[in-house]
Amino acid sequence: MAEGTTSGGNAKLQFGEKSIDLPVVIGTEEEPAIDIAKLRGETGLITLDEGFVNTGSTTSAITFLDGEKGILRYRGYPIEQLAANCDFAEVAYLLIYGELPTADQMHTFRDTLRQHTIVHEDIRRFFEGFPRDAHPMAMLSSVIATLSAFYPDSTSVKDPQQLHVSMMRLLAKTPTIASYCYKKSIGQPFMYPKNDLDYSQNFLRLMFGTPAEEYEIDPVEVEALNLLLIVHADHEQNCSTSTVRMVGSSDANLFASISAGIGALWGPLHGGANEACVAMLDRIRRDNGNVEKYVDMAKDKDNNFRLMGFGHRVYKNFDPRAKIIKAACDKLLAKMKINDPIFEIAQKLEEAALTDEYFVERKLYPNVDFYSGVVYRALGIPVPMFTVMFAIGRLPGWIAHWLEMRNCPTTRINRPRQVYTGATERDFVPIDQRK
Ligand code: CMC
Repeated sequence: MAEGTTSGGNAKLQFGEKSIDLPVVIGTEEEPAIDIAKLRGETGLITLDEGFVNTGSTTSAITFLDGEKGILRYRGYPIEQLAANCDFAEVAYLLIYGELPTADQMHTFRDTLRQHTIVHEDIRRFFEGFPRDAHPMAMLSSVIATLSAFYPDSTSVKDPQQLHVSMMRLLAKTPTIASYCYKKSIGQPFMYPKNDLDYSQNFLRLMFGTPAEEYEIDPVEVEALNLLLIVHADHEQNCSTSTVRMVGSSDANLFASISAGIGALWGPLHGGANEACVAMLDRIRRDNGNVEKYVDMAKDKDNNFRLMGFGHRVYKNFDPRAKIIKAACDKLLAKMKINDPIFEIAQKLEEAALTDEYFVERKLYPNVDFYSGVVYRALGIPVPMFTVMFAIGRLPGWIAHWLEMRNCPTTRINRPRQVYTGATERDFVPIDQRK
C-alpha cells in the first residue's frame, strides 16, 4: 500500500470474461483512490485520462486542497493563518522541511539564504546576450537552467549536501536573477543584494533601487509582497509542479527541473494568466468599461475568448487565494491612496460573471490570478514581470515536491503510456513513386 494511506477495500473491474480486484487506498483527508498499479499486468488494459482530470500521479504530504469547500492548507496549516502570521521565508521552510521552524532553525535558514544571494559575475554578463525586449520568463527559465553550468558542485541528486546547497542557491538567487530580468528591460544597472535585508525587502530594493541613491523600504509594500508570495507558494499537483516532478524523476538536477517548471508556468492557462488578466482588464477599460460585452464574449462558443483569472480545474466553489488577495488589494490601495481603474473594472466584472447563469452553472469563480495583478501594479511591478513573481512564490513548493519525489522509495521515472491512433504498418515508398 502507498505510503501514508490506509486501506479502503477493493474496487472490482469487469472486462469481458475477466474480473479483477483493485485496491482502494485512502489518504489522511479521506480521499479514496483506486490503485491501478497491477491493471496492465493482469488485464492488458491501460487507463486513458486526457488532462489527468481523474488521475492521481502520486501521494503527497505537502498541500491539501478541497475544491468543493475552497480549502487550501500547506502541511496542514490553513492558508489564511499562514498569510496572516508568517513571512514568505518561514512558509518556504514549512513547505520544504514539513514543520514550522523554531526560532533557532529560522535564524539559521535566513542566514544560509543570505550567504547565497549574489550570483556569479559571469551570470550578470550572461544578460548582455539577451535582446532588450526579451520576455522576462524566457530570461528567467534560461538563467535558472544555466545555474547548473555555473554551480556544477551542487548538481548531484544523490548527494544530500549538494542538494541542500542547490536548494539554498535557488531560493536565494532567484529574486536576484528576477530583478536582473527587469533591470535589463529598462536599461538600469543591476543591483547587488543587501544581506541585512529580509527576503522581500531585498527583492524590492533589487527591483526598484539604483546605485545612485538609497532605497527606502516601505513596510506596506513588503507586507503585500509577502502575502502574495505566500498564497502562490504551493498548489499540489498543478501543471508546473507536475513538470518539476516529472523532469526530476529522470534524475535531472534541481536547477534543470525548476527551469522546466518555469516554462510550464509561463502559459496563459497557468501562471501566465495573471499577465493575460491585467491585459484583459485594461482592454475592457479602454472599451469604456463595458464588462457585459466581455462576459458575453466569454460565453460565446464561437469565440475563443475566455475570462482570464476565472475558473479552475479543482476549485468549484471559490478560490481561497483570490479571497485573501482581494482583501489585501482593498487594504493596499486604500493605504497607498491609489485609485486604480483596473481594480474597479475587476470588481464590476466579477459581479457580472458571478450573477450570470453560464458562470454559475459551470462553477467558475475568480482564481488567484484575478486580483494579483492589481497588487503587483500597486507595487510598481510591470505586467511582463507578473508571471516571474508567481515563479518566485512557487519556488519553495516546486522544491518541496521535487524533494518529496526523490525521497519516496517507490519513485520511478515518470513515463505515461498512450493509446496509439496513427497509421498501422505500411511499406516505405521511394520519393519518386509518392503521389
Ligand atoms: N471563461 C469562460 N468560460 C470558461 C472559463 C473562462 N475563464 N473557464 C472555463 N470555462 C468553461 C469552458 O468553456 C467549459 O465550458 P463547457 O462545459 O460549456 O465546454 C467549462 O467552463 C469547463 O472548462 P474547462 O476548460 O473544461 O476546465 P479546465 O479544468 O480544463 O480548465 C482553466 C481550467 C483554469 C484552464 C480554465 O478555467 C481557464 O482557461 N481559465 C482562464 C485561465 C486562467 O485564469 N488560468 C489560471 C488558473 S489559476 C492559476 C494556476 O494555478 O495556474
